[in-house]
Amino acid sequence: MLREPNRGSQFGWASPGCGVDVALTCGVSLRYGAWVGGSDDGRLVGSGIPDTAWVAAHPERFGLELAGPPPSRRGDEQGEGGAPGAVEGARLGGVAVHEIAEVAGTPTYVYDAEGIRQRLARLRSALGAGKGGVPDPLICFAVKANSALAVLRVLAREGAGADIVSGGELRRALEAGIAPQRIVFSGVGKTDTEIDAAIAAGIRSINIESAEELQRVMARATAADRSVPVSLRLNPDVDPETHPYLATGLRQSKFGVPMVAAVELALRAHRHPNLRLVGLACHIGSQIVDAAPYRESVMHMRRTIGSLRDAGVTLAQIDLGGGLGVAYRPGEPEIDIAAWGRAVRVETDDLGLQLVVEPGRWLVAECGLLLTRVIGRKRGEGAAFVIVDAAMNDLLRPALYEAYHPIVPAHHVDPGASLTIVDVVGPVCESGDFLALGRAMPAVEAGDLLMVLDAGAYGMVMASTYNARPLPAEVLVDQGRWAVTRPRKTTEQLLGDEALPPWLR
Ligand code: LLP
Repeated sequence: MLREPNRGSQFGWASPGCGVDVALTCGVSLRYGAWVGGSDDGRLVGSGIPDTAWVAAHPERFGLELAGPPPSRRGDEQGEGGAPGAVEGARLGGVAVHEIAEVAGTPTYVYDAEGIRQRLARLRSALGAGKGGVPDPLICFAVKANSALAVLRVLAREGAGADIVSGGELRRALEAGIAPQRIVFSGVGKTDTEIDAAIAAGIRSINIESAEELQRVMARATAADRSVPVSLRLNPDVDPETHPYLATGLRQSKFGVPMVAAVELALRAHRHPNLRLVGLACHIGSQIVDAAPYRESVMHMRRTIGSLRDAGVTLAQIDLGGGLGVAYRPGEPEIDIAAWGRAVRVETDDLGLQLVVEPGRWLVAECGLLLTRVIGRKRGEGAAFVIVDAAMNDLLRPALYEAYHPIVPAHHVDPGASLTIVDVVGPVCESGDFLALGRAMPAVEAGDLLMVLDAGAYGMVMASTYNARPLPAEVLVDQGRWAVTRPRKTTEQLLGDEALPPWLR
C-alpha cells in the first residue's frame, strides 16, 4: 500500500529499486534547471527540478537567504559574493546556519519565528473577519505538528489558539501562554486524567469522539461539578485524497462519531446538566490540497446542524479541523489558501457560527529545517550514499510515509555544478533509514553541512532515541536573533533518566 500512495506527488516514489543503478551505470549527470538525464523510474523523474535549483530560484519560499561564495572558496577577491570575513552560506531568519551548527551541533532543528508569524497572518487574512456579530474565525494550531515551547510561545503572542490531543500538549500550550478559551481537545483516546486536566484548565471545547467517551466526559464533568463545553467530532466519510495514513474522515477510520449517530449523541450532550454542547467538529485528514473535501464535510455537518436546530439546539461554533497541504516538491500541488478561505466562508457564513480551524503543518512546515552534517560517502554496487548524522529517529517522515523533503548544502553551490544521484541515509541500522532516495545532489564531502528543508512540521515531535541516539537540538531564530531552545541531551543525561531495579544493582 505504501509503495503506491493514492496521491503519489507528495509521497514516495513509484517503484523503488532500479533508479540508482540506471543513474550510475549511465553516468547520469544533471545540471541545474530541468533534468537532462534520468530514467523512467518514478524516483528519478520526480518533479524534474533538483532541490538545489528550486531553493536557489525561490530562497524566500524557505525563509532563506543564500550568500555567494566567500573569496576563499571562489579564488577571486573582487567578484560578487560573500564579503571577506562574513559567515559563509545560507541564513535563516537573518542568522547564518553554519554559526548555529557550530554552537548547537548537529542534527539540529531550526525554526524561523518571523516565518511562522507571517504564515499565521496569511491564514487569518484568508479566513477574513467574522460577520454579523459572529466572532472572528479562531485558528487553533495543531500542537502535534510542532510542540516546541518556543514555537508555541511565538504563536501564543500572536493570539493563536491550540488544538491538543494529550495532557502533555495541554500542559505545553498553557505553559506557552495560549489562553484556555482558545484550546480545543481532539483525540480518540482521552484518559480520565486528561479529561480532568482539560476541565480544570477551563478549555474552550472537548471534542467528543464516541458514545463511550461522551459517557466518561459526563462522569468527569459531574464529579468536577462544572459546566463543561463540548463539541461532537463527526466522521463525515469524506475522502481527502491523501496518503492512506493521513486520512482520518473515512468511515473505516477510528476518528469521530458516525453521521448516523450524530444527532442522538449531540442531544444527549446538550441535555446533560454538566455539559454545554458548543459545536460540531471534524478533521478529515492531513496534507489536503483542495477545498472540495472541506466543502463536502461542511455539507454533511450542515445536515446535523439543521436537525439540531429543529430540535431547538443552537450551537456557537463549527470546527473544520486542519489538514491544509504544502508543496514538498517544486511544482507539487499545495492548497490555495486564499481560495480555500473563501470557499469555507461561503459554505459556513450563513450558519452564523464562529469558524474554528486546526491547522498544524501549513503554519510551520516551511518555517523549519533540520541541519545535518555529512559523515562520509559510500558507493555500493547498486547505489551511491551520502551518510549524514541525522537519521530516521530524527526525521521519521521519509521512512514512515516515503515523504519527500528537499535537501541542499548550506554552503554556496555553483549553479553550474553537476549533480549526481545519491541516497541520503543516516547511521541507524535499518534499510528504511533514509532521508532521500535517488536524489540529484551536488557533490558533498565529510564535514559539509546540509539543510533538510520543510521540516518544521512533524519533525522533532516524531523523533525518538532509537539506536540510543539523543534527540536533535532545537533552535529558534527571530529576525537576526537566535537561541538554543532545547539543547541536545548527552548520553549520560539519557542514562540518568533510567534506573536499574534494586535486585539488579
Ligand atoms: N486536527 C486534528 C484532530 C488532527 O488529528 C490533525 C492531524 C490536525 C488537526 C492537524 O493536521 P495538519 O493541519 O497538520 O495537516 N505525521 C503526519 C501528519 C499526521 C497528522 C495527524 N493529525 C505527517 O508527518 O505528515
